[in-house]
Amino acid sequence: MTDPDPAAAASERSRSPTTNSLPRTLEWIGGSDGCLRLLDQTLLPDRVEMRDCSTAEDVWEAIRVLCVRGAPAIGVAAAYGLCLGTRPFRGKPTDAFSAKVAEVGEYLCSSRPTAVNLSWAVRRISRLTLAENAGDSGAVWEAMLSESHAIAREDAETCRRIGEHGARLIPEGGGVLTHCNAGALAAVAHGTALSLMYAAHAQLRRFRVFANETRPLLQGARLTAFELAAAGIDVTVLCEGAAASLMRSGAIQLVVVGADRIAANGDVANKVGTYPLALAAQAHEIPFYVAAPRSTFDLSLPTGDQIPIEERADDEVSTIGGKRFVAAGARCYNPAFDVTPARLVTGIVTESGILEPVTPEKIADIFAARG
Ligand code: MRU
Repeated sequence: MTDPDPAAAASERSRSPTTNSLPRTLEWIGGSDGCLRLLDQTLLPDRVEMRDCSTAEDVWEAIRVLCVRGAPAIGVAAAYGLCLGTRPFRGKPTDAFSAKVAEVGEYLCSSRPTAVNLSWAVRRISRLTLAENAGDSGAVWEAMLSESHAIAREDAETCRRIGEHGARLIPEGGGVLTHCNAGALAAVAHGTALSLMYAAHAQLRRFRVFANETRPLLQGARLTAFELAAAGIDVTVLCEGAAASLMRSGAIQLVVVGADRIAANGDVANKVGTYPLALAAQAHEIPFYVAAPRSTFDLSLPTGDQIPIEERADDEVSTIGGKRFVAAGARCYNPAFDVTPARLVTGIVTESGILEPVTPEKIADIFAARG
């Protein structure tokens, strides 16, 4: 682990301070007859290929197989998916159209259960069908597409603000540990946890990032390392089993991760492996922050015990590159997420500021203050 040349790094940063060199995670191409274009994250970092979705089924499948992934990005994808799935019903009577919106919305929500941004976005788009003066279904559909564009625009701005608020947490000359991928690839731009790093990097601050590889689908090794390296940020990948001893070595001054759903009491669901990281951070007295937009909070759930945890197929654990290595006869346990209790979370960085300490009252306040 050698230090980068600070002068070369600073000049590189002034040319490319953010994630401009990355292909876009997702974007709508064209007008009303357009499609949703996704960067296929299952192929990264080997191949940079785009995948076009023209139906709700295309979007459902892309979310399910993690072609598009990360809580904010799947929310935006689902909003566009709802437009695609109801597009053939433009011009039908409003009752029939509204029923179709509800059906397609429910279908899209069944793709992955944990990240609440998905159902949040579907609800926000579906609400347009309920407006009293909604007009004919063609006009409602156009409004749904405009609202999807608004969600996409807001996501980029929200993530930028998360970075702006949280950049001061990045330790000057220190080490930051992260898990999974909560970066530009998990959102329209910037990401959440990695947005802090992009903002600090743009301020020409010096720090080193350690990225857990994130078994079984390797989002840390494949995606976080890819996007941080592309932005010129010093990144080192480790197996998550090495995280506790790295903390003990003194190399880490901050742990920051994203979230898929945050309950009313501040319990946080995120990629499996986050909970042990929080326990290790507490044992080593290292601050453990979560970075997430307000759309990731689910105040209808009192605690993390009620958060649905997605279980994925055995073969994600038992195979690598298509080859099975787990002994025949053994089963696999493959929860995609775990829940970190609020008491282990030092603070939550949102677009409204840093919420610290994490208490139900403080969480309720940020929603009461901004509606
Ligand atoms: O299974 P994934 O890759 O969708 O899991 C993603 C995560 O757990 C992220 O940390 C979370 O969605 C936050 S992304 C800003």
